[in-house]
Amino acid sequence: MILRVAIGADHGGFALKAELLPWLKSQGYEVSDLGAFSFAPADDYPDFARKVAEALASAQAERGIIICGSGVGACIAANKVPGVWAGVCHDTYSARQGVEHDDMNVLCLGARVVGTELARELVAAFLKARFSGEARHRRRLDKVMAIEAEYLKKNRSQKEEGATP
Ligand code: RB5
Repeated sequence: MILRVAIGADHGGFALKAELLPWLKSQGYEVSDLGAFSFAPADDYPDFARKVAEALASAQAERGIIICGSGVGACIAANKVPGVWAGVCHDTYSARQGVEHDDMNVLCLGARVVGTELARELVAAFLKARFSGEARHRRRLDKVMAIEAEYLKKNRSQKEEGATP
């Protein structure tokens, strides 16, 4: 099966995305570029993080890559979408192990932190890795999902309490 990869970047990651795109395609991945499509210094990373995260959540892609200046803002935004497990990884160990142990499905990169060659190695480590499925990792991921489920429930009941009949 050809892995479908969604990629997005704000102005901070725009140039690195442009460099990674042809290389990613040459590696045989099916790549969806979700923007930005032109360099706009006032654009906002949540807009592109959201597009990539939603591509994952709606099963239009199996993996995502989001690039901003540091990778941090994109990661925070992407993790707001249920079904997304995003991490900032600027070393190849984490880029691989984040998938094998934590089922990370979105890699966030900081274009002001890493150069093109390291970015390629990070992406390669991320895309080649597979979740191990080991019981200890599943147990931990279940605990992560339990946190999300509990707080989503709390937010919902708080909203309902505050709602006017
Ligand atoms: C944009 O200048 C920058 O703040 C953004 O790309 C990113 O680094 C946020 O985490």
